[in-house]
Amino acid sequence: MPAAIFAPRLNSRGVELGDDHARSALIAAIERAAAPAPAAAIVDGADAGGPARPVVSPIDGATVVGTVREGDAALVERAVAVAAGGFRAWSATPVETRAAVLEKAADLLEADRAAFLAVLAAEAGKTLPDAVAEVREAVDFCRYYAAEARRCFGADVVLPGPTGEENRLVQRGRGVFACISPWNFPLAIFLGQVAAALAAGNAVVAKPAEQTPLVAAAAVRLLHEAGVPLSALQLVTGDGAVGAALTGHPAIAGVAFTGSTETAWAINRGLAAKRGPIVPLIAETGGLNAMVVDATALGEQVCDDVVTSAFRSAGQRCSALRLLFVQEDVADHMLALIAGAAAELVVGDPRDPATDVGPVIDREAKARIDAHVAAWAARGAVRFAGRLPTGALAAGTYVAPTVIELPSAADLAEEVFGPVLHVVRWKASQLERTIDAIGASGYGLTLGVHSRIDATVKRIVERLPVGNVYVNRNVIGAVVGSQPFGGSGLSGTGPKAGGPHYLARFALEQVVSVNT
Ligand code: SER
Repeated sequence: MPAAIFAPRLNSRGVELGDDHARSALIAAIERAAAPAPAAAIVDGADAGGPARPVVSPIDGATVVGTVREGDAALVERAVAVAAGGFRAWSATPVETRAAVLEKAADLLEADRAAFLAVLAAEAGKTLPDAVAEVREAVDFCRYYAAEARRCFGADVVLPGPTGEENRLVQRGRGVFACISPWNFPLAIFLGQVAAALAAGNAVVAKPAEQTPLVAAAAVRLLHEAGVPLSALQLVTGDGAVGAALTGHPAIAGVAFTGSTETAWAINRGLAAKRGPIVPLIAETGGLNAMVVDATALGEQVCDDVVTSAFRSAGQRCSALRLLFVQEDVADHMLALIAGAAAELVVGDPRDPATDVGPVIDREAKARIDAHVAAWAARGAVRFAGRLPTGALAAGTYVAPTVIELPSAADLAEEVFGPVLHVVRWKASQLERTIDAIGASGYGLTLGVHSRIDATVKRIVERLPVGNVYVNRNVIGAVVGSQPFGGSGLSGTGPKAGGPHYLARFALEQVVSVNT
């Protein structure tokens, strides 16, 4: 089938962290950045009240990064009412103006990059390369959705009809969109959802993860500064009950959610139980992401890609590799290579440029991952365990990169959201059974295949309805506009973020047929 080619587009520039001068200048700018302003729900541009809570850094489990004032259900009510009022003017704002506002936000974000890098490190424990990549992704989302808004909504679509009749397809905002985002990409996913909803002409009430309100509040202030009307974008802080009050609100016209499959089910149940308008849910959830490696794969390349996919970002990406299926004939060799490379990883303070693996997000996350590793260690299944930092970082929430060998894929039923790689061996005669085992999880987010045999790659890829497939490379770091991201099954609904079909789901379609 011929391929449709999309026009090439420039993504934002990063920082060459391998260049001593560029890296030192960036680190100096980060050190000069002011402490983040306190976060609170932002309703009609004003910080709303609520009980204050310190936001503690995962770096050492003690440093207070800032404070957040927690919202509640009453605040959700106010925020939705203000957004409903703001919707009318924002949806009537020309597409060109909406797009220009998002482009201004991208420019402001690039100009203020150091401050965002500082808070991403302190609040979310992001290493320098991860934080730089996240700011780039956030900038790309703003520019991409601005361009997409012009392409998708810039003109009505004129449709054919009989003589004497004019048919036009008009797309516009649906109303107030609820955007619920996770802590693992507290800037890029937060801003991506909000920018998409705004680009399509919706007003937004956004709720960030409890762990990362400071960066979200900074992003909302930046969008307001760029020209998003105060009434068109509200922020509500707080726990899951606040999120439930938001998605359950009768005036919500759609929900964009990224987080756990469990929470997506709960949102779905809530939406289904409402006796009101039937609204779309755009959900991107987790994955039991697999990579299949056969005996023809290039060992050093596999090793590099596995270590990147499983341990970079402390394994806290929904795209991260969880289950590595290695052909028996090369399994011992691959395991030795991977253990050797993982032993070189430095676990520690994410602000230190020498660090490869920062902390996991909080104590609960660390306790869950540690308990999982301990259970398999008791069964003698741990093939590699890295070193933890000591001294001032001992109270931080670090998990060492770990490799566990499982008897079968069925032994891992749930995503372990940290730097833990599970390995399963497969025999050359068992490729079909291996594909079945991957499909049986019900998840479908990312998939890696390392093989030099095209027929093997095709067989695996065609059998598995996985959203993002990566062949002979790592499985993380989808690029906006080039690798639209999102899965199927237990991994979410689609459409893919950063792709050409995303904005349409945020818009209402109306066909106007006129008898001329
Ligand atoms: N979009 C991210 C990636 O591709 C994961 O959430 O790694």
